[in-house]
Amino acid sequence: MEATAREQVAGRSVEWPTRGLSFGGDYNPEQWAPEVWREDVRLMGEAGVNMVTLGVFAWGLLEPSDEEYAWGWFDEVIGLLAGAGIAIDLATPTAAPPSWLLHQHPEVLLVDEHLVRRAPGSRLGWCPSSPVFRGYALRIAAALAERYGDHPAVRLWHVSNELGGGNARCYCDVSAARFREWLADRYSDVEVVNAAWKTAFWGHRFSSLDEIQPPRGAQHAVNPGLFLDYARFSSHELLEHYLGEAEVIRARSAAPITTNFMVGSGSHVVDYSDWARHVDIVANDHYTLVDDPGRAEDLAFSADRMRGLVDRDSPWLLMEHSTGAPSWQQRNRAKDPGEIARNSLAHVARGADGALFFQWRASLGGAEQFHSAMLPHAGTETRVWQEVVALGRGLERLAVVAGSPVAPARIALLVDEESAWAFEQGLKPHRGLSYARESRVWHTAFWNRQVLVDVLPADAPLTDYSLVVVPSLFISGDARAERITRFVADGGTAVVTYLSGIVDPTNTVIPGGYPGAFRGMLGAWTEEFRPLQIDEEVRLDDDSSVRDWTEDVVLDGAEPVVSHLDGATQGRAAVTRHDYGEGGAWYVSAALASSSVQRIVDRLIAELALPREVEAPPGVEAVRRRTIDGDVLFVINHTSDDVTIATGGLDLISGETSPDATVVPAGRVVAVLEGMRP
Ligand code: GLA
Repeated sequence: MEATAREQVAGRSVEWPTRGLSFGGDYNPEQWAPEVWREDVRLMGEAGVNMVTLGVFAWGLLEPSDEEYAWGWFDEVIGLLAGAGIAIDLATPTAAPPSWLLHQHPEVLLVDEHLVRRAPGSRLGWCPSSPVFRGYALRIAAALAERYGDHPAVRLWHVSNELGGGNARCYCDVSAARFREWLADRYSDVEVVNAAWKTAFWGHRFSSLDEIQPPRGAQHAVNPGLFLDYARFSSHELLEHYLGEAEVIRARSAAPITTNFMVGSGSHVVDYSDWARHVDIVANDHYTLVDDPGRAEDLAFSADRMRGLVDRDSPWLLMEHSTGAPSWQQRNRAKDPGEIARNSLAHVARGADGALFFQWRASLGGAEQFHSAMLPHAGTETRVWQEVVALGRGLERLAVVAGSPVAPARIALLVDEESAWAFEQGLKPHRGLSYARESRVWHTAFWNRQVLVDVLPADAPLTDYSLVVVPSLFISGDARAERITRFVADGGTAVVTYLSGIVDPTNTVIPGGYPGAFRGMLGAWTEEFRPLQIDEEVRLDDDSSVRDWTEDVVLDGAEPVVSHLDGATQGRAAVTRHDYGEGGAWYVSAALASSSVQRIVDRLIAELALPREVEAPPGVEAVRRRTIDGDVLFVINHTSDDVTIATGGLDLISGETSPDATVVPAGRVVAVLEGMRP
């Protein structure tokens, strides 16, 4: 339980909640009798659990009626955990309001875009702007912090749970009124709103802010400026909720405060690049999706994105993942043997200083009764339990990586929540495109070659990089475009893909040929978009073909790299390259197949001499963490063949040393301590 100081987490000096790496999960003792708590604590010891998230859904049991608290059982659980040396990540239980509160105050329930008030019975069904809900939430947060704020076992605070996962947008009248206040702060005057949103279209001009409604279920498309601002406002309101709870905790406790993000490769409900600055420890929940054939790639993308949300040298925390099948997908997939360790250690390799799960013990009842857990329904005589215990022991042996940075990447890939919102909503040339797909296909091409990519917020500094990948960065204001252009002028290489630089931050088109924001740098521009029909395919001269998206590109200094072989764009460039200043800028105007992206990435790796962590086939993942004892090379073999890597040293996981080369068996992970760099 003893903590170690970690330098600067999210810009602040924070004590990490555990010594070494953190390991454990959500612990929900309220579902069990006290005898079970004792067994839990004993088994936690057996597995090497050193931290649990406690009380995350316990509001209705901690405050069984209005301002009547029941602390006794909680005191006992906290005492048991503390006695066993297990750190507590104490959650405020505000994700799941008690039934009495929703009964007394149905007005706090979320209203959807069709103005239907949601019924109680689940969780996170509350309006983020409701002052009534906020009052009750801050009261229970304050009561908890008052009681346990200086308890030595409380090493971390966990505000609510997955804020926005269920209540990302509320459209009630309270939210509408708050939105108008938010607009008044942002724009000062209604005429500024009219200009920003181009409300002359359809004559939607407002004479007063009072006329503005949220983008509720109108019968047809709504103004793009309005829905983008409503998404920003909604993220802001949830962040305000977080900050409100954090403030009452901070007044009563010195322990760091976090909340669990939901960063996968899909787009997100809130703007995490903004949120990350406000939490003491950046924490994530990650679940693989059964419909995603690239689950390991998705995990790597998400973890690289988490690293981009901290300052890259600071650790972050994997707050939740699963030991097996979740229960919220259509057909929930169990993990294969060895997959728990591959998943957990892939996060650790990419900078997580801990791996926690939802949840410790599988529930017998309640909505998630079939969700996997560290301790399954079948108990300890199970493969899952054995793998959990082995993982716990493995993480203990990896303590040396705690607090260490990931060896630096030379490639930045830019992602932007606001661009995702603007890209995917409203009337568009092609409404079936996925923002996440374009980022993922480029990230995966580097993953296949064991080349590390930092997935960064779109306005992060680029000075440390040789290459910046800009996939469908739909919104590019002047400052953003200038920074990327300067990076290239100063000798960097940029790859800009279709539908980047199309609109400014008000969601208004940048005129003069797409992609307006980058036209000069790219030496190419697009006259007209040519989205392809469902059965259409255009052949390219690199032996691939493209579906979904092409453009009529006009060269203006750039050279064609890949061209269209047929269709209306026959002979026109699909991919171009332009010397600009000291650097080079590529434009990818088509939704390239992954084979085509791989060819470009391989060329960039060769031309820019981008180092591969190891030389291994696709499906073998490799990342280094730079510890005080030397580099630790994590190699994760997702394939069904053993591979040998040309690096020897002590494998911290197995304890075995191999002098020159290391065999990584199929499906296994090694973490080779390479020794100090010269
Ligand atoms: C999310 C939540 C958990 C649990 C898991 C599993 O991550 O935070 O409470 O519901 O999903 O479904």
